[in-house]
Amino acid sequence: MCSGTEPDADFAESSATPAAVPVIRVLTLFPDMVRAVLATSIPGRAERQGQVRYEVTDIRDFAVDKHGSVDDTAYGGGAGMIMMAPPVVEAVEKVRGRDDATVILTTPQGETFSEQLTLELLADLQAKGELILVCGRYKGIDERARDLVVTREVSIGDYVLSGGELPALVVVDAIVRRLAGVLHDEDSAANDSFTVDRDGGLDCAWYTKPPVYRGLTVPEVLMSGHHANIEKWRRQQAAERTRQRRPDLAPPEPQGGRVPRQDRKERQQ
Ligand code: ADE
Repeated sequence: MCSGTEPDADFAESSATPAAVPVIRVLTLFPDMVRAVLATSIPGRAERQGQVRYEVTDIRDFAVDKHGSVDDTAYGGGAGMIMMAPPVVEAVEKVRGRDDATVILTTPQGETFSEQLTLELLADLQAKGELILVCGRYKGIDERARDLVVTREVSIGDYVLSGGELPALVVVDAIVRRLAGVLHDEDSAANDSFTVDRDGGLDCAWYTKPPVYRGLTVPEVLMSGHHANIEKWRRQQAAERTRQRRPDLAPPEPQGGRVPRQDRKERQQ
């Protein structure tokens, strides 16, 4: 459970066994921060239920000297500290269960995280039995660490955070909630925004008790008990929302009417 730095030799050997629990290894300079989030809510439940295992490694355990140094100034000058290559490379090599494991660096320079990338990384985790995330810090990491051990770089958006921990946690959360059995009915991902069920668009509006709040009522159709009408309303609502808020995700309006749902799915593939 959110354990230390020991490599998972047993797992590496048993990764061909379908029953092996996939492991997500997070390398960070802030292990307590990462462990706290991974033990909470749905990521925590996923581990407690045995659908995934987290291994959090403190990169400082691989510092280059007894002072715990993991960063230094940039060659050529310039403001900001750079994470050194040796601690990062040696940490990855120590924890990695298999040589071809995907090693993701979270960085604003990476490919933008998305629903599609979530499913790709989920498939990767399931196929290889492990996924490694390295959380960048400071101004960046020495390019040689990228060259030597990083296989993929992921950004969670065009803004700069203080470090890669929150982005790594975003990535892990998005992945583990899609593992079979993690989500129960009450928090199902089936018709979330961006899913195939929503044609890649946004989700609809949702309501719960009370039926009237500060004079605001619930749309009548939702109280009707007529499931087909409710489903139709939700689809229309979701499509309308997508057109208004995220026109970039909405299917184009053809001349002479809306595209039938099935055609839109095929067009997305
Ligand atoms: N590290 C700092 N900012 C980041 C971002 N937007 N995405 C991924 N990693 C980051």
